[in-house]
Amino acid sequence: EKGTYPHYMLKEIDEQPPVMRKIIQRYQDDQGELTIDQPILDAMNASDRIYIIAAGTSYHAGLVGKQFIEKMAKIPVEVHISSEFVYNMPMLSEKPLFIFISQSGETADSRAVLVEVKEMGHKAITITNVPGSTLSREANYTLLLHAGPEIAVASTKAYTAQLAVLSILAAVTGKSRGHELNFNLVQELGIVANAMEVLCDEKEEFERIAREFLSTTRNAFFIGRSLDFYVGLEGALKLKEISYIQAEGFAGGELKHGTIALIEEGTPVIALSTQEYVNLSIRGNVKEVVARGANPCIISMEGLNSEGDSFVIPEVNPILTPLIAVIPLQLISYYAALHRDCDVDKPRNLAKSVTVE
Ligand code: F6R
Repeated sequence: EKGTYPHYMLKEIDEQPPVMRKIIQRYQDDQGELTIDQPILDAMNASDRIYIIAAGTSYHAGLVGKQFIEKMAKIPVEVHISSEFVYNMPMLSEKPLFIFISQSGETADSRAVLVEVKEMGHKAITITNVPGSTLSREANYTLLLHAGPEIAVASTKAYTAQLAVLSILAAVTGKSRGHELNFNLVQELGIVANAMEVLCDEKEEFERIAREFLSTTRNAFFIGRSLDFYVGLEGALKLKEISYIQAEGFAGGELKHGTIALIEEGTPVIALSTQEYVNLSIRGNVKEVVARGANPCIISMEGLNSEGDSFVIPEVNPILTPLIAVIPLQLISYYAALHRDCDVDKPRNLAKSVTVE
């Protein structure tokens, strides 16, 4: 039920803070420590390399998840698009473990990979929002997102839930391997939930940004470096899915290797800056596009902000910024679609779960 909301997408964006709190609670033990079922930890610890397989938004969550697992658990990770994996199976390590990320748990492209790796005798974990879904039943282990049904075709709360669950999996695995975090993840995810709430209360600002930058444009670019690059990919996917604006996400440093040719007078370039060590470089990239006529929209994190930034997001732990940096992009996409009279919840040509390969 969407209640008083005009669209499921807006309702689901607003549900992100409570979903965060629910995930923290569901993954806590009686002592308040984050916990993952022992068989899953054993599988993580028995593997020498993890292969994340996913499509669309879930693939974008996987890109961030790789950083979480490599930094917190110190196990190497590869991330693959499911539909490509079947043709170009990478050389597998001696003890591979597969993690399937799928909101619906029904994506046929991902299932095709699961069937194949199971036949090869490898183990798999499915991270899904739907208990009893095909990918959940067919994998050895399941981690649930606890995000509640996601009805809008464009995925929002499932993405941030995927990131939260991946961070918990990474941290708990790391701890079991003797790598303690130098921060308290429960506390930091709580700060994330509060920051999400602040952002969800800023809807007029995002409506204004959508109007200023996206109401008539043909195309738009999202740039970022490091974690911000992956969030930009997700922002571009959201925007193109529901507003039909041709949108692409790029690594800031890659722009000058070709894409900058597309920048014209007024082209919107949405730049993210949430990471201190790339702040200067991404701002350098913004200068490059502005010199070619771009209309820059900089979304930065508190502490890294400069005069003229379009929006400043509250500060959270640097490794967790994707969980909140995505929210402005979800809301900007939502309003851009509304302004352009698009069917926000049911965009043309798309289905919620893609059950054909
Ligand atoms: C994006 C979107 C799609 C899905 C993709 C994978 O908003 O909805 O890109 O993310 O089809 O779906 P799941 O996660 O159900 O496997």
